[in-house]
Amino acid sequence: MLENENLHDEKLESSKKSLLAEQPEVYQDIQENNFNISKDDGDNDEHEHSIENADVKVNEEIHDEKLEEIKRKCKFKQEYVDNKVILSVNHLKQYFFFGKGANKYKLKAVHDVSFQIHEGECFGLVGESGCGKTTTGRSIIRLYNITSGSIYYKGYRIGAGSRWNEKEIKYTKIRLKRKLTELATSLKEGKISQEEYDKEANSAKEHANNIIKVQKAKIKQIKHDNTHVDPKLMQEIQMIFQDPIDSLDPRMTVETIISEGLQIQGHHNRAENHKKVVEALEKVGLIEDYTNRYPHEFSGGQRQRIGIARALVMNPKFLICDEPISALDVSIRAQIINLLNDLKEEMGLSLLFIAHDLSVVKYFCDRIAVMYFGEMVELATSDELFKHPLHPYTKSLLSAIPKPNPLTEKDRIRITYNPQESHDYSVDKPKFVEILPGHWILANNAEIEKYKEEIKELDIKASQEEK
Ligand SMILES: Nc1ncnc2c1ncn2[C@@H]1O[C@H](COP(=O)(O)OP(=O)(O)O)[C@@H](O)[C@H]1O
Ligand SMILES: [Mg+2]
Repeated sequence: MLENENLHDEKLESSKKSLLAEQPEVYQDIQENNFNISKDDGDNDEHEHSIENADVKVNEEIHDEKLEEIKRKCKFKQEYVDNKVILSVNHLKQYFFFGKGANKYKLKAVHDVSFQIHEGECFGLVGESGCGKTTTGRSIIRLYNITSGSIYYKGYRIGAGSRWNEKEIKYTKIRLKRKLTELATSLKEGKISQEEYDKEANSAKEHANNIIKVQKAKIKQIKHDNTHVDPKLMQEIQMIFQDPIDSLDPRMTVETIISEGLQIQGHHNRAENHKKVVEALEKVGLIEDYTNRYPHEFSGGQRQRIGIARALVMNPKFLICDEPISALDVSIRAQIINLLNDLKEEMGLSLLFIAHDLSVVKYFCDRIAVMYFGEMVELATSDELFKHPLHPYTKSLLSAIPKPNPLTEKDRIRITYNPQESHDYSVDKPKFVEILPGHWILANNAEIEKYKEEIKELDIKASQEEK
């Protein structure tokens, strides 16, 4: 066992070396964040593939017409439209693979993230650097082929990954083999008759075939959907990138930068494009004269405005703002936030607002999701999250916000979060549960009880303070 582990470590080291040569930035990031890379043997995923998880019932009959119908159309869910859910991210997983063959390793940048954003809502995604926020945003605008999970926009599936389904087929085959060996042993030992053996074996085979048939159809559908995404629909989703300096090409004029998206979408009428560019510039508080200038002639705040104009020119309905103010001076942060707020009202936008600290999203967002290392740990409305912060990681983020009152600021203690110390998930595994209406938290059974007590205490404390 120990020998094996050593071997594993050696392999990991050699793989890290090749990564350093091939993708130095990723390597550095992994080193700095002390990232857990694991070998991609896939076997550690088996717990996700229990019989209960396979979404096909044993006796469900699969008619070929039904499969044909699935294949013809892209997946669409009316319930999202009915419930005014503009974007739904379901069990999103985004892994990055590096190395080859036996040295293949995976980095779980996003590991099981689910959330829904309603029309007109501003949804905050908060977590420390490297926890997978940008990757989530980039997956939504289809910059990556997602590994697993699905993304729906206005009811249409705009992205899906098939890794889960492929693994489900693999484990179904493994389980069938196991079952058949078990049955064969029982037959040999005389525990069951030949007749019983035949019956059980056939039913096991049929069950496995049904699962495999459904999963194969789903994979086909996923491939179909991924290649048939409506570009007009995707145009409605725009992203403002994290870094206003790096995200603008220094050799392009403001006009070319902003109109690039229009060109890609096939709008080649120069006069019309110019008009749209000027309109977008005006919306973000800049003037027509700037169109012939280059990005380096502008300040950070102005560059971020250009980045916003580039998104607005496409007439978006859904805007992903990836830490739009992190790189800016404190004095202009409020300007950009106010601008986004005005645009949201004016254009009826829904927003996904990504930030690395809670103070930014507190007043701006309707609901906030807290992410830690690729996983969502808490989700609630802004008011509720600040009223009942429960997860130790959320508490640690809250403790990082400076207080405006110098007397209380002096006593502020920064809480550090260490998952090994805070949780014991060795036996009782955590689930994402709704602890109060609309307030979700990643916790196991023991923690749920503890958090419920905490809610009571916080309520008592708040009512005492009111008096
Ligand atoms: N294209 C990529 N290839 C490999 N690893 C990546 C890639 N993009 C991001 N990562 C890794 O995924 C993790 C999450 O990154 P990111 O989503 O940018 O975090 P955040 O935006 O929360 O700071 C990081 O460890 C990063 O190194
Ligand atoms: Mg980021």
